[in-house]
Amino acid sequence: MVEAKEILYKDSRELYSDLVSFAGNRYQPIHRWYSLVEGFSSEFVRRLIGEQSIMPKVCFDPFMGVGTTALTCQDLGVKCFGIENSPFFYDVTRTKLRSDYDPDEFAVLIDEFEIYLNSCSHSHPLPEMETKTLFQTNERERWIFNEPVREGISDILEKMHMLPIEANKYFSLFKLAIGSHLVAVSNVFRNGKCLSFKKKWEDNNTQRSDVHSLFINYCRNVLLVDIRSKANNIPKVHNYVNVMRGDSRTLINSLPENSIDIVISSPPYLNSRDYTDIYRLELWMLGYVSKFNEEKKLRSSALTSHVQIAVADSISPNIQELNEFLTHLETIGTLWNKNIPNMIKGYFSDMESIFENLHPKLKEGAMVYINVSNSAYGNKICEVDTILAKIAETKGYEAQEIRTARYINSSKQQEIASKLRESVIVLKKNSW
Ligand SMILES: C[S@@+](CC[C@H](N)C(=O)[O-])C[C@H]1O[C@@H](n2cnc3c(N)ncnc32)[C@H](O)[C@@H]1O
Repeated sequence: MVEAKEILYKDSRELYSDLVSFAGNRYQPIHRWYSLVEGFSSEFVRRLIGEQSIMPKVCFDPFMGVGTTALTCQDLGVKCFGIENSPFFYDVTRTKLRSDYDPDEFAVLIDEFEIYLNSCSHSHPLPEMETKTLFQTNERERWIFNEPVREGISDILEKMHMLPIEANKYFSLFKLAIGSHLVAVSNVFRNGKCLSFKKKWEDNNTQRSDVHSLFINYCRNVLLVDIRSKANNIPKVHNYVNVMRGDSRTLINSLPENSIDIVISSPPYLNSRDYTDIYRLELWMLGYVSKFNEEKKLRSSALTSHVQIAVADSISPNIQELNEFLTHLETIGTLWNKNIPNMIKGYFSDMESIFENLHPKLKEGAMVYINVSNSAYGNKICEVDTILAKIAETKGYEAQEIRTARYINSSKQQEIASKLRESVIVLKKNSW
């Protein structure tokens, strides 16, 4: 067992402050196909790979999101395993990783799509789904999609399902295109924690044809442009076949032993953000979920990081900073949600099992980079990065550094005035 050294805290804001958000991907071909606010930039992955003395052969991202790590690795010729539990994000990633699109074939399909949409004036029945909050009906006072918007989306989904079998690979491109616009054409916005109604949502005047135009323009001006620009780049590795859908707490076990050189990942932050809720328009409208129990199942397969479902009390890792934080929460009385202490315990025990299960999959001396932010509850900052680094030390890693990437505002709910450190935890696999 290697003796734990003091963790080195390093101010790396100059290096990372612009890279740990998705902003840097907004103008990057293919990366830009779906903006994930919670994602990081491809340049972040490039820099971390660039600082290795030997080019890594195999990378891994256990919280893949929309595939920034896997796609950057593919561009660099590095094999990358990835796991993602949201079926929508998983599909977005696979759509971005495919490299066998033919731009001319796709262009013809877009033209046909446009002709079809221009001819649409028929009405579609309400989709069969258990949630009743999405659509405008006489019984509802508020709804997420106005009637013309629902018709416009339904036209697109209908045409997608008419694609001939030989055009199968383009189905997911069209799905991504409509998925990218669902929030924009709806009456809600993502407020960080959930979906909230837009100010003056009643004035939303989006027409059926507006939905069609947004979709067609996006297919032509974004997807097709990027496909054309990459048409002659045949990747050396195909990470399309290396990514998996499911819960990384258990799926890590299916990876080959002693195979990974580097991990570049960002788990959900301990900030009570429920991805199943925030991305529910994509999940319900694109057919991933149509019943509440399916939604619940998906939610429970996510890392414990929100209070949307009550979490059972669990034994949390025995780390001094964590114990002190939990004791603090006990002393301050009421929190904005009674599930917070169990969520915090669950988060750190989930991450403990990730570190433990990951260890045998890593090659000797492998490097692990985790982008995470601290949180605040009960008027006190929870030093998530320090606690994670110390947990990792108990599971066979040397915590080399915690690099400050930037300081971010805490949400109102987090009840703290000061900013929260977002950082990159740098770990190295120890031999036991
Ligand atoms: C911060 S985001 C990662 C974003 C990614 N770095 C990118 O740039 O696209 C965290 C991701 O972890 C996923 N996730 C949550 N729980 C998971 C689990 N148990 N297994 C796998 N993925 C999970 C979420 O759905 C989310 O996409």
